[in-house]
Amino acid sequence: MKNLEVNLCGVKLDNPVVPASGTFGFGLEMADVYDINVLGAISIKGTTRDPRFGNPTPRIAECEAGMINSVGLQNPGVDAVIAEEIPELRKVYRKPIIANVSGFGIDEYVECCSKMDKVDDVDIIEVNVSCPNVHNGGMAFGTSCEAAAEVTREVKAVTHKPVFVKLSPNVTDIVSIARAVEDAGADGITLINTLLGMRIDTARRRPVIANKMGGFSGRAVFPVALRMVYQVANACQVPVMGCGGVATASDVIEMMMAGATAVQVGAENLRNPFACKEIIEALPAEMERLGIDSLSDIIGIVK
Ligand code: FUM
Repeated sequence: MKNLEVNLCGVKLDNPVVPASGTFGFGLEMADVYDINVLGAISIKGTTRDPRFGNPTPRIAECEAGMINSVGLQNPGVDAVIAEEIPELRKVYRKPIIANVSGFGIDEYVECCSKMDKVDDVDIIEVNVSCPNVHNGGMAFGTSCEAAAEVTREVKAVTHKPVFVKLSPNVTDIVSIARAVEDAGADGITLINTLLGMRIDTARRRPVIANKMGGFSGRAVFPVALRMVYQVANACQVPVMGCGGVATASDVIEMMMAGATAVQVGAENLRNPFACKEIIEALPAEMERLGIDSLSDIIGIVK
């Protein structure tokens, strides 16, 4: 019997596989597709203080081995997420819930985290300082050590729940940002969010995406994500949730060997809605093939 359990800041996950925020809605949509209780946890759709319609369309551009999105944090706002989305999800889902929070100012991050702190059904708060698709917020907080640390410090002051800070790969030195949020009190780090990218419609001679640029994700980014997980896990003491281009059980094991305690699956959910379920089902055979009895034994095993 293979042991797939991992422990994320005291939150027990039956397995390390977590759908990444923005690729699984608020979870409920997927409950009709399969039994979502097979998941390790769910990171629900990014939530802001106020409801957001999101960016103009087109918002998606297909690419070789990936895609670009510029959704723009479309969501019904934190009060509706707490009053409606999380209770509806809880009716069909018993496992841990990760609330992903974004903002356009420190006060917004603080307000959202303070509200999420009071929700018993939220196990972990994931603070997104890395959305590339909004102006004056999101990634602006995750590309400077000082700003990332300030957000972390301020949200930690209003919550007792574990706080994971989701970092952007669009930086020169990921380790300095990771160390800054760890020093500011982050309980864990999620990385990576999407890489800023662009496509041009050559017939129309204009960008494919209305917002011109967007976040590139999918299988092509896996080596970049793995490299950053490896660097951060070796530089920081707090647990890392690896994310970026994960599509197979083998990718999950590779991420964990690089230092990830849990592994988020993002764009692959959009290509194959059964991706997380299939990865979880494939893990025991892949562990057997590699002589692994317990997944927690391999976290950061590659130095
Ligand atoms: O546009 C979006 O909603 C993307 C969010 C993110 O990448 O964090």
